[in-house]
Amino acid sequence: MTTITLDGYADVREAFRLRDLKQALYDEGGVVMADCLLVLHGEDHRVRRRVENRLFRRGTFRHWEREFLRDVVRDTLAPFAAEGRADLVELGYRTIMSLTALVAGVDRPTGGADEADALYRYAKKFSEGATLVHTTRDPETVRAEVRAALEEFDATFLRPSMARRRELLDRHAAGELSEQDLPRDVLTGLLRHQDELGVDHEILLRECAFYLQAGSHSTADAFTHSADEFFAWLRRDPAAAGKALDDPVLLQRCVHETLRLHPASPVARRRALAPAVLRGGTEIPEGAVVVLDIAAANRDPRVFERPDEFDPLREVPAGVPRWGHAFGGGMHACIGTELAGGVPEVDSAVVDGPVADGAAADGAEQEHERVLGTVTLMLSALLAAGARSDPQRPPRRDPNSSRDHFASYPVVFG
Ligand code: HEM
Repeated sequence: MTTITLDGYADVREAFRLRDLKQALYDEGGVVMADCLLVLHGEDHRVRRRVENRLFRRGTFRHWEREFLRDVVRDTLAPFAAEGRADLVELGYRTIMSLTALVAGVDRPTGGADEADALYRYAKKFSEGATLVHTTRDPETVRAEVRAALEEFDATFLRPSMARRRELLDRHAAGELSEQDLPRDVLTGLLRHQDELGVDHEILLRECAFYLQAGSHSTADAFTHSADEFFAWLRRDPAAAGKALDDPVLLQRCVHETLRLHPASPVARRRALAPAVLRGGTEIPEGAVVVLDIAAANRDPRVFERPDEFDPLREVPAGVPRWGHAFGGGMHACIGTELAGGVPEVDSAVVDGPVADGAAADGAEQEHERVLGTVTLMLSALLAAGARSDPQRPPRRDPNSSRDHFASYPVVFG
């Protein structure tokens, strides 16, 4: 089997957009990823994405950010700040859990801490299942644990959430409820179009589990890395970094620069359904596995000067998003880009980024008002509460993954 690794910015950009390159990173993670949006191809992908995109129209998250995201971030942080310490990995997951549950359409009837804890546990397990290709544990043991978690999640969360939505949809069909009365989430969209999409209960279960983990793991990871990079910047250059404490726009640049340096998905992987030749001359034979090395491409010196340096003030060439390829590109471009990373004011990313590439641009308003995104909101609240790394307990890397993840990142407040 031929494997071709692309590590240049332009090659990776082009490869993301080749229609004949099919998703191949999650073959190992089928226990939670089979038939999910991220592994569908061609027409199947287009039809599913069109349904799910409706929630992700530009403007939805701007509205969320104005209405309630700040409160969610502040309320989750408050008990940790009051106690004087937190682990950023746990804090990140807890903050983002309720948001991804909202996006996926997973109800939390009591809203209590036990529900948040259960979802946090499931999301971590599903994430371990999805990234089985990177595991250093016995894959069969991980698969069995993921199956058990899926069953529990189905019984406790998904079936009750489905029953409520089916009832609402029936009442909508009977003319009792208007469009505005229906939840705007992935599960409702899928139930509405279940026959057209041909999705059975097992697929619905995996799609919601996939959303729960895709949204939370990457956001929590970006949050922890952003805080880590920011603390280091503050030590190196207190005057420059100090300015970001009062400047959310500069803080958003810190997050985007962090995403460039530490993309939550360091590689994407595809299989060539047909031969192709890239503009730079690389030949891809049919059947080849193509590794899109996002982490390396994001440090391509032809695009990013001093590529290994964390420099939120850097200039980037026109048409290049500050996060590089951290949100992917082409048909699988991250559907949650705007929720997690926000929308830079009038920025190259709006022209060239995933939102414009993917069908997410469908129905987009042409406004360029800045949306900060959840990671920046989380980092801003953390710093405003006076967080700094815990001098007694250094951060720890994840021993069960070959990826660039923290397993623990203790901070103290004040
Ligand atoms: C900092 C946070 C995030 C990062 C770095 C990130 C990164 C990515 C990347 C690289 C891909 C493409 C993978 C590939 O091409 O193989 C992707 C796809 C996806 N992401 Fe994200 N993501 C983030 C947050 C989110 C959030 C908050 C959600 C939803 C709530 C989400 C949902 C998805 C979905 C559904 C896809 C699949 C899209 C498709 O196949 O059409 N992501 N993400």
